[in-house]
Amino acid sequence: MQGQALPGFRDFYPDELALRNYIFATWREVARRYGFQEYDGPPLEPLELYTDKSGEEIVQQLYTFEDKGGRKVALRPEMTPTLARMVGAHAQALKKPIRWFSIPQLFRYERQQRGRLREHFQLNMDIIGEASPLADAELIAAAIDIMRAFGFKAADAQARVSDRRVLRTLLLGRGITEAQLPTAFEAIDKSERVPKDVVAAKLREAGMGKRETDAVFEIPALRGLDAVLTALGKVKGGEEAGEPLRQAVGALETMGLADFAAVDLTIVRGLAYYTGIVFELFDRGKSLRAVCGGGRYDGLLKALGGVDLPALGFGMGDVVLGELLKERGPADQASTKLDAFLIAVSGEDVAPMLQLAHRLRDLGVAVEYGLRPAAIRKQLELAAARGAARALIVGPDERAAGAVVVRDLKAGTEERVPIAKLPGLFH
Ligand code: HAM
Repeated sequence: MQGQALPGFRDFYPDELALRNYIFATWREVARRYGFQEYDGPPLEPLELYTDKSGEEIVQQLYTFEDKGGRKVALRPEMTPTLARMVGAHAQALKKPIRWFSIPQLFRYERQQRGRLREHFQLNMDIIGEASPLADAELIAAAIDIMRAFGFKAADAQARVSDRRVLRTLLLGRGITEAQLPTAFEAIDKSERVPKDVVAAKLREAGMGKRETDAVFEIPALRGLDAVLTALGKVKGGEEAGEPLRQAVGALETMGLADFAAVDLTIVRGLAYYTGIVFELFDRGKSLRAVCGGGRYDGLLKALGGVDLPALGFGMGDVVLGELLKERGPADQASTKLDAFLIAVSGEDVAPMLQLAHRLRDLGVAVEYGLRPAAIRKQLELAAARGAARALIVGPDERAAGAVVVRDLKAGTEERVPIAKLPGLFH
């Protein structure tokens, strides 16, 4: 059919937009509770904003072209570089730590599948100018609290928390070189999805022997904070490297969120700029990609804007979240349902009905009426289809008595109500 949306792009019919609005409203509500301010940036950016720092995977997925002025541009595939640039440009004037959030629409040319599209909306919450692990805990807690605000329990969703400094220290301590680290990180990142022999071959290609390869394969087995701290105790600088993770996880426990979080070093994150604690939030069934991912990126502001500020944040996408909400059954979305459908019985009833409709709308009541003369039965059908709670029927007898017939469309009952008393029905 002609005129279809591009693959991986969505038309939002009203029901779908109601779900999206419900997601956005919940995001904004939790961000408000955490004292975050909303910002936005341009959807189109200079290409080099991404080519330098975001990492190969996202660069391959860019929607990029040359504009009419000959500039190489890209649709934003993520928000973090824009945020880093914006903060960098006004760093002096902004009170630190900066706590900002945004809900940009992002574009990535990905292979389309369930939970993965070519555009999505992503809540970004970031803190800039704070090196304390309490900031890491704060953001992980915010991500968890968003899931709680949607009604998910610890049995439904879990944050898996890791730290690239811990991974570095464990790997370097076992003889892996700086140059081999990216390959080792990638192997750990893929350890759940790629067969062991394929990973082993990659590691050998990067020049790692048995001792180093074993060190990489031991990482995923270190489950929980205690196991990680014990392993760190055996390598140089280990205790120091584990301190931020220990503190952040401790703070989450103190907040009563321990059930929602687990230390899991297989979380590395695909983006190149992360430097410290990283985390992803998954549904426990793990049927889909992560709902949310983020971490600390202390070097990015300096690299993009020349201002050296520690920073951290996360992105939570609407697509995976929407799938989980739909899986759980009809969502209690902010509804767009009508409060009342007004029905004029005869042509002479149209003017008083219009006056009544307008008065009710001024009072904040959601009202619709038939836009052309039709049988009452037809109008009641439309009222039901719209999900209106009540029909207000304006007819000659009622008009003479200064009243309307109020029909409760669920119960099927009717009563005559004086017009002066109508607003009281809706408040
Ligand atoms: P990301 O892991 O690339 O991180 O994306 C974050 C979340 O956005 C994912 O967990 C997923 O739910 C959603 N998402 C990403 N790509 C798609 C897609 N093609 N279709 C549907 N959903 C998608 C970032 O983008 C980082 N910039 C987040 C961040 C903010 N880090 C620090 N601050």
